[in-house]
Amino acid sequence: MSLSIRNLTKSYVEPGGRRLPILNVDSFDIADAEQVVLVGSSGGGKTTLLNVIAGVTTSDSGQVVIDGTDVTTLSEPARDRFRALKIGYVFQTFNLLPAFTALENVLLGMSFSGRKVDRSHALELLERVGLNHRLHHRPTKLSVGEQQRVAVARALANRPSLLLADEPTANVDTANQDNLLKLIREACTENSVSLMLVTHSQDVASQFDRVEKLSDFNMPEAAE
Ligand SMILES: Nc1ncnc2c1ncn2[C@@H]1O[C@H](COP(=O)(O)OP(=O)(O)O)[C@@H](O)[C@H]1O
Ligand SMILES: [Mg+2]
Repeated sequence: MSLSIRNLTKSYVEPGGRRLPILNVDSFDIADAEQVVLVGSSGGGKTTLLNVIAGVTTSDSGQVVIDGTDVTTLSEPARDRFRALKIGYVFQTFNLLPAFTALENVLLGMSFSGRKVDRSHALELLERVGLNHRLHHRPTKLSVGEQQRVAVARALANRPSLLLADEPTANVDTANQDNLLKLIREACTENSVSLMLVTHSQDVASQFDRVEKLSDFNMPEAAE
Protein backbone atom coordinates (compact mmCIF):
# COMPACT_ATOMS: atom_id res chain seq x y z
CA MET A 1 0.00 0.00 0.00
CA SER A 2 1.09 3.54 -0.49
CA LEU A 3 1.59 6.20 2.17
CA SER A 4 1.24 9.89 1.46
CA ILE A 5 1.82 12.58 4.09
CA ARG A 6 0.93 16.22 3.42
CA ASN A 7 1.33 19.35 5.57
CA LEU A 8 1.54 17.32 8.76
CA THR A 9 2.12 19.12 12.04
CA LYS A 10 2.28 17.75 15.55
CA SER A 11 3.23 19.43 18.79
CA TYR A 12 3.09 18.41 22.42
CA VAL A 13 1.88 20.76 25.09
CA GLU A 14 4.23 20.99 28.05
CA PRO A 15 2.82 21.03 31.60
CA GLY A 16 3.32 24.82 31.76
CA GLY A 17 1.18 25.19 28.63
CA ARG A 18 4.02 25.94 26.20
CA ARG A 19 3.68 24.23 22.83
CA LEU A 20 6.59 22.04 21.77
CA PRO A 21 6.59 21.60 17.98
CA ILE A 22 7.81 18.13 16.96
CA LEU A 23 6.66 17.50 13.39
CA ASN A 24 6.18 19.75 10.38
CA VAL A 25 6.32 17.63 7.24
CA ASP A 26 5.24 19.21 3.94
CA SER A 27 5.39 16.08 1.90
CA PHE A 28 6.58 12.52 2.39
CA ASP A 29 5.61 9.44 0.38
CA ILE A 30 6.24 5.74 0.40
CA ALA A 31 5.27 3.80 -2.70
CA ASP A 32 3.52 0.45 -2.71
CA ALA A 33 5.98 -2.26 -1.57
CA GLU A 34 8.75 0.28 -1.04
CA GLN A 35 11.16 -0.24 1.87
CA VAL A 36 12.37 2.93 3.60
CA VAL A 37 14.76 3.42 6.49
CA LEU A 38 14.26 6.46 8.70
CA VAL A 39 17.25 7.79 10.60
CA GLY A 40 17.73 10.85 12.76
CA SER A 41 18.88 12.13 16.09
CA SER A 42 17.35 10.94 19.33
CA GLY A 43 14.37 13.09 20.30
CA GLY A 44 13.91 14.25 16.72
CA GLY A 45 10.37 12.88 16.39
CA LYS A 46 10.80 9.53 14.62
CA THR A 47 8.60 7.62 17.08
CA THR A 48 6.05 10.44 17.07
CA LEU A 49 5.88 10.27 13.26
CA LEU A 50 5.33 6.49 13.34
CA ASN A 51 2.67 6.91 16.04
CA VAL A 52 0.84 9.49 13.92
CA ILE A 53 1.02 7.24 10.82
CA ALA A 54 -0.28 4.30 12.88
CA GLY A 55 -3.05 6.45 14.34
CA VAL A 56 -1.84 5.79 17.87
CA THR A 57 -1.32 9.55 18.27
CA THR A 58 -3.31 12.31 16.60
CA SER A 59 -1.68 15.09 14.61
CA ASP A 60 -2.52 18.80 14.87
CA SER A 61 -3.15 19.25 11.15
CA GLY A 62 -2.43 17.67 7.79
CA GLN A 63 -3.17 14.44 5.95
CA VAL A 64 -1.83 10.92 6.35
CA VAL A 65 -3.28 8.95 3.47
CA ILE A 66 -2.78 5.20 3.57
CA ASP A 67 -4.14 3.37 0.55
CA GLY A 68 -6.69 6.09 -0.10
CA THR A 69 -7.82 6.52 3.52
CA ASP A 70 -6.84 9.69 5.37
CA VAL A 71 -6.35 8.23 8.85
CA THR A 72 -6.42 11.71 10.43
CA THR A 73 -10.15 11.88 9.63
CA LEU A 74 -10.99 8.61 11.41
CA SER A 75 -12.41 8.29 14.92
CA GLU A 76 -10.26 6.50 17.49
CA PRO A 77 -12.13 3.16 17.17
CA ALA A 78 -12.00 3.44 13.38
CA ARG A 79 -8.23 4.07 13.57
CA ASP A 80 -7.86 1.02 15.81
CA ARG A 81 -9.76 -1.13 13.30
CA PHE A 82 -7.78 0.28 10.37
CA ARG A 83 -4.49 -0.39 12.18
CA ALA A 84 -5.50 -3.95 13.09
CA LEU A 85 -6.39 -4.71 9.48
CA LYS A 86 -3.65 -2.94 7.56
CA ILE A 87 -0.71 -1.97 9.73
CA GLY A 88 1.91 -3.98 11.56
CA TYR A 89 3.73 -1.93 14.19
CA VAL A 90 6.84 -2.98 16.08
CA PHE A 91 6.71 -0.44 18.90
CA GLN A 92 10.00 0.93 20.23
CA THR A 93 8.77 -0.14 23.68
CA PHE A 94 7.28 -3.42 22.33
CA ASN A 95 3.88 -2.91 24.11
CA LEU A 96 3.42 -6.62 24.76
CA LEU A 97 0.51 -7.54 27.01
CA PRO A 98 2.11 -8.60 30.31
CA ALA A 99 -0.57 -11.10 31.36
CA PHE A 100 -0.15 -13.18 28.21
CA THR A 101 2.50 -15.53 26.90
CA ALA A 102 4.60 -14.92 23.79
CA LEU A 103 2.28 -17.11 21.71
CA GLU A 104 -0.86 -15.54 23.18
CA ASN A 105 0.47 -12.03 22.41
CA VAL A 106 0.82 -12.99 18.75
CA LEU A 107 -2.59 -14.75 18.68
CA LEU A 108 -4.31 -11.78 20.35
CA GLY A 109 -2.80 -9.48 17.74
CA MET A 110 -4.52 -11.68 15.17
CA SER A 111 -7.87 -11.76 16.96
CA PHE A 112 -8.01 -7.92 17.16
CA SER A 113 -8.10 -7.80 13.36
CA GLY A 114 -11.32 -9.81 13.29
CA ARG A 115 -9.71 -12.31 10.94
CA LYS A 116 -9.53 -16.02 11.62
CA VAL A 117 -6.79 -16.74 14.16
CA ASP A 118 -4.12 -18.68 12.30
CA ARG A 119 -2.25 -20.55 15.04
CA SER A 120 0.12 -22.30 12.66
CA HIS A 121 1.15 -18.93 11.15
CA ALA A 122 1.78 -17.56 14.66
CA LEU A 123 3.89 -20.60 15.51
CA GLU A 124 5.81 -20.29 12.25
CA LEU A 125 6.61 -16.62 12.93
CA LEU A 126 7.75 -17.33 16.48
CA GLU A 127 9.94 -20.12 15.16
CA ARG A 128 11.41 -17.77 12.54
CA VAL A 129 12.38 -15.27 15.25
CA GLY A 130 13.97 -18.15 17.15
CA LEU A 131 11.49 -18.40 20.00
CA ASN A 132 9.94 -21.84 19.66
CA HIS A 133 11.46 -22.71 23.04
CA ARG A 134 9.81 -19.65 24.69
CA LEU A 135 6.23 -19.85 23.42
CA HIS A 136 4.64 -20.05 26.84
CA HIS A 137 6.76 -17.45 28.63
CA ARG A 138 5.20 -14.17 29.67
CA PRO A 139 7.05 -10.95 28.74
CA THR A 140 8.57 -10.52 32.23
CA LYS A 141 10.14 -13.98 31.87
CA LEU A 142 11.73 -13.06 28.55
CA SER A 143 14.90 -11.11 27.94
CA VAL A 144 14.48 -7.67 26.36
CA GLY A 145 15.78 -9.01 23.06
CA GLU A 146 13.32 -11.90 23.21
CA GLN A 147 10.45 -9.47 23.89
CA GLN A 148 11.57 -7.51 20.84
CA ARG A 149 11.46 -10.67 18.75
CA VAL A 150 7.90 -11.40 19.96
CA ALA A 151 6.96 -7.85 18.96
CA VAL A 152 8.30 -8.44 15.43
CA ALA A 153 6.39 -11.73 15.14
CA ARG A 154 3.20 -10.04 16.35
CA ALA A 155 3.57 -7.16 13.90
CA LEU A 156 3.84 -9.59 10.98
CA ALA A 157 1.09 -11.91 12.16
CA ASN A 158 -1.79 -10.12 10.44
CA ARG A 159 0.00 -9.98 7.09
CA PRO A 160 -0.05 -6.16 7.15
CA SER A 161 0.15 -3.99 4.04
CA LEU A 162 2.28 -1.41 5.85
CA LEU A 163 4.89 -2.35 8.43
CA LEU A 164 6.20 0.27 10.85
CA ALA A 165 9.25 -0.89 12.79
CA ASP A 166 10.73 1.41 15.43
CA GLU A 167 14.34 0.38 16.07
CA PRO A 168 13.28 -3.28 15.85
CA THR A 169 16.80 -4.62 16.31
CA ALA A 170 18.01 -2.17 18.97
CA ASN A 171 18.08 -4.77 21.75
CA VAL A 172 19.32 -7.93 20.07
CA ASP A 173 22.75 -9.38 19.29
CA THR A 174 24.22 -9.31 15.78
CA ALA A 175 23.01 -12.81 14.88
CA ASN A 176 19.45 -11.96 15.92
CA GLN A 177 19.69 -8.56 14.22
CA ASP A 178 20.54 -10.25 10.93
CA ASN A 179 17.83 -12.86 11.45
CA LEU A 180 15.12 -10.29 12.31
CA LEU A 181 16.07 -8.06 9.40
CA LYS A 182 16.00 -11.01 7.02
CA LEU A 183 12.55 -12.00 8.28
CA ILE A 184 11.24 -8.43 7.99
CA ARG A 185 12.67 -7.96 4.51
CA GLU A 186 11.45 -11.33 3.25
CA ALA A 187 7.96 -10.81 4.67
CA CYS A 188 7.81 -7.38 3.02
CA THR A 189 9.21 -8.51 -0.32
CA GLU A 190 7.09 -11.67 -0.57
CA ASN A 191 3.84 -9.87 0.26
CA SER A 192 4.52 -6.43 -1.30
CA VAL A 193 4.43 -4.78 2.12
CA SER A 194 5.53 -1.15 2.39
CA LEU A 195 8.10 -0.76 5.16
CA MET A 196 9.19 2.18 7.28
CA LEU A 197 11.98 1.13 9.61
CA VAL A 198 13.72 3.36 12.14
CA THR A 199 17.29 2.53 13.07
CA HIS A 200 20.41 4.05 14.56
CA SER A 201 22.54 1.30 13.07
CA GLN A 202 24.65 2.23 10.05
CA ASP A 203 24.98 -1.49 9.39
CA VAL A 204 21.19 -1.90 9.20
CA ALA A 205 20.62 1.28 7.16
CA SER A 206 23.27 0.31 4.60
CA GLN A 207 21.21 -2.74 3.62
CA PHE A 208 18.38 -0.58 2.22
CA ASP A 209 18.15 1.40 -1.01
CA ARG A 210 16.25 4.35 0.44
CA VAL A 211 17.43 6.00 3.65
CA GLU A 212 15.69 9.18 4.78
CA LYS A 213 16.96 11.48 7.48
CA LEU A 214 14.05 12.97 9.43
CA SER A 215 15.62 16.43 9.71
CA ASP A 216 15.87 16.59 5.89
CA PHE A 217 12.08 16.71 5.54
CA ASN A 218 10.86 17.71 9.01
CA MET A 219 11.04 21.43 9.91
CA PRO A 220 9.22 21.78 13.26
CA GLU A 221 10.67 25.22 14.07
CA ALA A 222 9.13 26.55 10.85
CA ALA A 223 5.65 25.57 12.10
CA GLU A 224 5.66 28.23 14.82
N1 LIG B 1 3.74 12.35 25.11
C1 LIG B 1 4.67 13.31 25.03
N2 LIG B 1 4.52 14.49 25.68
C2 LIG B 1 5.44 15.47 25.58
N3 LIG B 1 6.57 15.35 24.85
C3 LIG B 1 6.79 14.21 24.20
C4 LIG B 1 5.86 13.10 24.26
N4 LIG B 1 6.35 12.11 23.50
C5 LIG B 1 7.52 12.54 23.01
N5 LIG B 1 7.79 13.79 23.42
C6 LIG B 1 8.97 14.60 23.05
O1 LIG B 1 8.97 14.71 21.64
C7 LIG B 1 10.27 14.64 21.13
C8 LIG B 1 10.35 13.58 20.06
O2 LIG B 1 10.22 12.31 20.67
P1 LIG B 1 10.28 10.97 19.82
O3 LIG B 1 9.26 11.04 18.75
O4 LIG B 1 10.16 9.84 20.78
O5 LIG B 1 11.74 11.06 19.17
P2 LIG B 1 12.68 9.93 18.56
O6 LIG B 1 11.87 8.70 18.37
O7 LIG B 1 13.20 10.50 17.27
O8 LIG B 1 13.80 9.72 19.53
C9 LIG B 1 11.18 14.38 22.33
O9 LIG B 1 11.80 15.60 22.68
C10 LIG B 1 10.25 13.90 23.39
O10 LIG B 1 10.69 14.28 24.67
MG1 LIG C 1 12.03 6.79 19.08
